[in-house]
Amino acid sequence: MASDVILPALLVWLLPTLVSAGVVRRQAEDLEERSPPCLSYVMDGLLHLDCSNRGLKELPDELDTTAQVLLLSNNNFHTFPTQLQNFSRVVTLDLSGNHLSHPIPSYLENWDKLQTLDLSNNLYDTWTTNGQKYSIKNLDLSKNKINAVDDRAFTTMPNLRFLDLSENRINDLPPEVFSEAHKLDRLILSRNYFSDVPSFQSPSLRSLHLSSCQIANINVDSLVGMGSLVELDLSMNQVEAIPENFASYTLQELNLSYNSINALTDNSFSSLPHLAVLDLRGNEFRDVWSTSHFASNPFLRQVYVKGNRWSCEGFSVNLLLTYEFLTKEPTKIVDRESLICYTPSNVTQLSWQQAYIRTWHPVETSTPPFTTIALMVGVIIGIVITSCVCRGLVSITRPDQSRPPPDTTTLNLNGTATQPRVESVILRVPLDPPPSYEDALLMPRLNSSFHSLPDFVDEEEPRNYRRSRSIGDLTETRSRIGDRRSMRRPVEIHARISID
Ligand SMILES: *[C@@H]1O[C@H](CO)[C@@H](O)[C@H](O)[C@H]1NC(C)=O
Ligand SMILES: *[C@@H]1O[C@H](CO)[C@@H](O)[C@H](O)[C@H]1NC(C)=O
Ligand SMILES: *[C@@H]1O[C@H](CO)[C@@H](O)[C@H](O)[C@H]1NC(C)=O
Repeated sequence: MASDVILPALLVWLLPTLVSAGVVRRQAEDLEERSPPCLSYVMDGLLHLDCSNRGLKELPDELDTTAQVLLLSNNNFHTFPTQLQNFSRVVTLDLSGNHLSHPIPSYLENWDKLQTLDLSNNLYDTWTTNGQKYSIKNLDLSKNKINAVDDRAFTTMPNLRFLDLSENRINDLPPEVFSEAHKLDRLILSRNYFSDVPSFQSPSLRSLHLSSCQIANINVDSLVGMGSLVELDLSMNQVEAIPENFASYTLQELNLSYNSINALTDNSFSSLPHLAVLDLRGNEFRDVWSTSHFASNPFLRQVYVKGNRWSCEGFSVNLLLTYEFLTKEPTKIVDRESLICYTPSNVTQLSWQQAYIRTWHPVETSTPPFTTIALMVGVIIGIVITSCVCRGLVSITRPDQSRPPPDTTTLNLNGTATQPRVESVILRVPLDPPPSYEDALLMPRLNSSFHSLPDFVDEEEPRNYRRSRSIGDLTETRSRIGDRRSMRRPVEIHARISID
């Protein structure tokens, strides 16, 4: 009987839960079915198919195989997806951010439009070839784990122009590896583990990037096999010296910033006749260069020197000549403000030019910083004086209202003074302790009061004035003791004296 009741009740209770769970599941399935995993659109006249960021392990069926830009980045591909072979018009294939580690499939040989292949951020540890030729122009293999590259890997890419192998684990490459890539123009090898500048044989290479590679050594003939090289980036390495007669007939831009170079010689750049841009920031130069270091570089137009601690010791004329050479027109020092002395201490922060001039022509020097300081001091003094004068004026105009002058009592003694003035004097009395008798005799206030009693003196005889003075003193003192409001008493006394 009890179970007959409990079972339906349980069902009634569970039903909504079961139903809602089913609904949720249906909704999720619908969502997956409804939103196609790949977007298709036309941009720049090319049909794009975007299947990126979808966690795909395989490509969905029924994709438009005429797509020209195929974006498959950030998925879960461990191999090249099998459906890929049905495409053939692809110009750009982006497979970055997957788990690929196998050589590129041979059917890509038939993709004669393929120009750009992005395989960055995958799991390649070696790069080999299966012998087919590919039409690829731009190949991105950065952010893999490549430590070995097949000698012939790029002989099969006759159209290759741009190759990015940065952020891998390459510590050496055979010199001939690019010799068959006749169109290779730009090669990025930054963030690898080279110890020397590789001596590639590449007649076409124009730009070589070897930044952050732990390179400590440059061989004098490293660049000889790169007959078109224009730009060499060796920044952020551990180079301590540029070899004498380091040669390239074509090199125009040399980036040696953030290395450990501490000196140049007249032969550092003597075999780089087309050198135009030179970045030597963040090295360990101390001795000011000589203009003779650049005697063979007529096209030099940009030099960067920031972050070196120049020593101006000796104050030789080099300071002046090199400063002028680097800052005058055709040759432009880009960071002119970096040509400043670090030592000795008496010229720290002065430019090479200033250090020289100050040392040898101390009188003629103009001192703009000091002039400015003097000007500022003058302005400050002016402000202070002005404010003092203003305060003085204010205090002169005030006392009438705030505080009665000491002579007020005098007027009271005249007997013609008004009551409020007497009151204001009385208010001041409690602040003073009661004077002793001796003190009272010497009290200046009453003395001065009587001296400055013009009205009283004019009206009365001088004799009375003198007498009243002595008696007033005494009377005033006594009356003040014990009675704060007795200030009016002197007035009465004087009145009596006047009557006498
Ligand atoms: C791809 O092409 C093969 C034949 O080469 C065919 O069997 C297959 O159905 C095609 N796949 C798609 C998705 O079109
Ligand atoms: C040289 O390399 C550094 C660091 O890689 C970079 O910041 C700088 O812009 C480069 N200099 C030039 C002139 O390109
Ligand atoms: C700085 O000190 C050096 C000695 O170390 C001296 O030869 C030079 O004249 C001084 N320069 C200036 C500008 O005072």
